Amino acid sequence: MRECVTRVSRFSPGPSSELNPTLLAGWPLQTLNILFLGKSYTKGAAMRLPGRARLGFYPLPPPEAERIRRFFVFPDKPCSALDPCVGDGAAFTQIASDQKVLRYGVELDAGRAQQSRTKGIEVIHGNCFDVQSPVESFSLIYLNPPYDFEISEEKSQRMEKLFLEHVYRWLKPGGILVLVVPAKRIADCAVLLSRHLRDTRVYRLTEAECVRYGQVAVFGVRRTRQERDRLRDEEIIEAQLWLASVEREVQKLSPLPPQPDHLYTAPPSGPVRLVHRGLPLDLIEDLLPKSSAYRQASAVLFAQQADVTGRPLTPLHGGHVGLLCTAGMLNGIFGDGEMRHIAHWQSIKLVDRSEEEEDGKTIIREKERFSNELTLVFCAGEITSLK
Ligand SMILES: C[S@@+](CC[C@H](N)C(=O)[O-])C[C@H]1O[C@@H](n2cnc3c(N)ncnc32)[C@H](O)[C@@H]1O
Repeated sequence: MRECVTRVSRFSPGPSSELNPTLLAGWPLQTLNILFLGKSYTKGAAMRLPGRARLGFYPLPPPEAERIRRFFVFPDKPCSALDPCVGDGAAFTQIASDQKVLRYGVELDAGRAQQSRTKGIEVIHGNCFDVQSPVESFSLIYLNPPYDFEISEEKSQRMEKLFLEHVYRWLKPGGILVLVVPAKRIADCAVLLSRHLRDTRVYRLTEAECVRYGQVAVFGVRRTRQERDRLRDEEIIEAQLWLASVEREVQKLSPLPPQPDHLYTAPPSGPVRLVHRGLPLDLIEDLLPKSSAYRQASAVLFAQQADVTGRPLTPLHGGHVGLLCTAGMLNGIFGDGEMRHIAHWQSIKLVDRSEEEEDGKTIIREKERFSNELTLVFCAGEITSLK
């Protein structure tokens, strides 16, 4: 048996896999949210729960946010700041705390978007990649994107870079960028950072959660067009090499100090109009059950859950249990405390591939076989899959 453990951001059992709400008593809300995509099982109408799937939510610890805040000088005039992955808004509220700062955020998770709104942040609930902003608008962008492996394995290497590429143009020349990422992701962003930022500083974060993920904070100021044009190739290459070395040299980086060793002054800026071009997913999700087309399609697309009850006449031996498991008849909720989990069996098709060289030709053989897969979803949101 091969075992792989993944952290998931979102898990949808599909309408066919309805679980009995009474079975779920005692489960943390967060896990239930993962299962029901934010819908709670209450008597009567379904309602949205505040905390939903994790979606890469690794909030910046408050002491780090406080240390970052001390690096900034905000102007006497209004200025706009953005957190494109604002989470619950706690870190951003600290980082952009000043009376004159207009705070904007984008957040994929409905519950957290709502939480950050209560902190006085103007938040778009949606995917940051579906949001548009006028270029050169913000005085400060604080970006702590979701960790790559939370999104999808194929895109895993590039998510931080994609977020950065999407939002850096929204920063005013002279505006400040703060990027919080694992040190090993800096190299991916090195080309953009070296070309578009000046006064770049990188510090390692020291709170336990940050050390665990090897996080660093990159500070920099967006260059003007003239500053970019005046840049020499050697300067860009030197900066890129230095940024690319951060991963190897992370222990040699200065820790983010309690008192700043440099001050970044944010330029003034007016209010910004962010536009969301994405689909209103929550609304669609709410309306789907009322759609007759969806009801007809779901009868075809989603198999009915087998419901088997009864007591065996004689105790089951291992072979019986195995058959019941692989037939999906022992799916359900088991265990206590931290080990409480949902078990779900399914049949999967595997392809064994072999290559042989014969007379200068490569012969590829593919053999299909069926196996069973057991997926366990634990209370804390961890998923284990046994194949
Ligand atoms: C690492 S957390 C950062 C939270 C907060 N900014 C902080 O520093 O504490 C990343 C956040 O991005 C959100 N997120 C993930 N993908 C997103 C996307 N495509 N668009 C907007 N927000 C996203 C997650 O729900 C999560 O709350």
